Amino acid sequence: MSNFTATAIAHPNIALIKYWGNRDDRLRLPSNGSISMNLEGLFARTQVTFDPGLTRDTLLLNGKQETGKALERMSGFLDLLRGLARTDIYAQVSSENNFPTGAGIASSAAAYAALSLAAAQALDLGLSEAELSRLARRGSGSACRSIPGGFVEWFAGAEDASSFAVSIAPPEHWRLVDCIAIVEPKPKATGSTEGHRLAATSPLQSARVADAPRRLEACRRAILGRDFDALAAVTELDSNLMHAVMMTSSPPLFYWQPSSLLLMKEIADWRQHGLPACYSLDAGPNVHVLCLEEAAGQVKRRLEEFPEVGEVLVCKPGGPARLE
Ligand code: PMV
Repeated sequence: MSNFTATAIAHPNIALIKYWGNRDDRLRLPSNGSISMNLEGLFARTQVTFDPGLTRDTLLLNGKQETGKALERMSGFLDLLRGLARTDIYAQVSSENNFPTGAGIASSAAAYAALSLAAAQALDLGLSEAELSRLARRGSGSACRSIPGGFVEWFAGAEDASSFAVSIAPPEHWRLVDCIAIVEPKPKATGSTEGHRLAATSPLQSARVADAPRRLEACRRAILGRDFDALAAVTELDSNLMHAVMMTSSPPLFYWQPSSLLLMKEIADWRQHGLPACYSLDAGPNVHVLCLEEAAGQVKRRLEEFPEVGEVLVCKPGGPARLE
């Protein structure tokens, strides 16, 4: 091992075709494939130092020393890397995001993508992009999509080896913008790891999964052909389908706030009146408004007029995870 410390940066991503539910919870093998766009400007920066003097792993998250579940989850993940490197050395990890944590802006995706890259580099594992993506998936499913750049597809795969993400178009392929309307910056009550376990209890999940190949194809085509109307139709449908599954699982999960629904209706209405914008919500109440770059200024101004909206984050397509 030549090098024990490394720092990496990764962007979160917004899923256009969502991942919800696993075929295998331990391996985080998803029930369906998914497609996303990395979010430039937002990032997690993670430094990892493997130190033979440590007696356990430590995690400093946004300046706060973590002790409970967040630390346990990270330690379990680092065990995978230690296994690959055939070492038992503990690590000191320090991670910061420049955006709200646990609020449906994929903070765990950015964090685990950055951690995978930094830790693999620190241990000198020499992994390919696909291998890094597979590894990041084990930390947080959607993290596998924050390893490659731009517009990304995660193949559900048949087993661990075939479940990873690849770039289907670079960031500069399409001037799409995500204007994220923050209606609630606080972390959600039910995290996605727990939510994935409930997906199969919804009678709607099997229909959502069965139709996923059709939506994936429609989304892929819309991105490659830069067809905004087609993208809007499949993106809103897919978001609604995932939230329908969430709301009908046992126990039910409601991630929307009244303000989320208010904005969704407004955005659909704007589009009917010619503004190229559509909505998508991950596991949280904040509303991602995807639009063409020329409409971004107007979308942001309109969103800011709502008293329910605290802040609007504006993100272009982002690049891959990278070392610092
Ligand atoms: O990667 P996780 O376990 O945080 O799950 C992400 C789930 C959604 O954000 C709701 C959908 C997705 O595909 O990113």
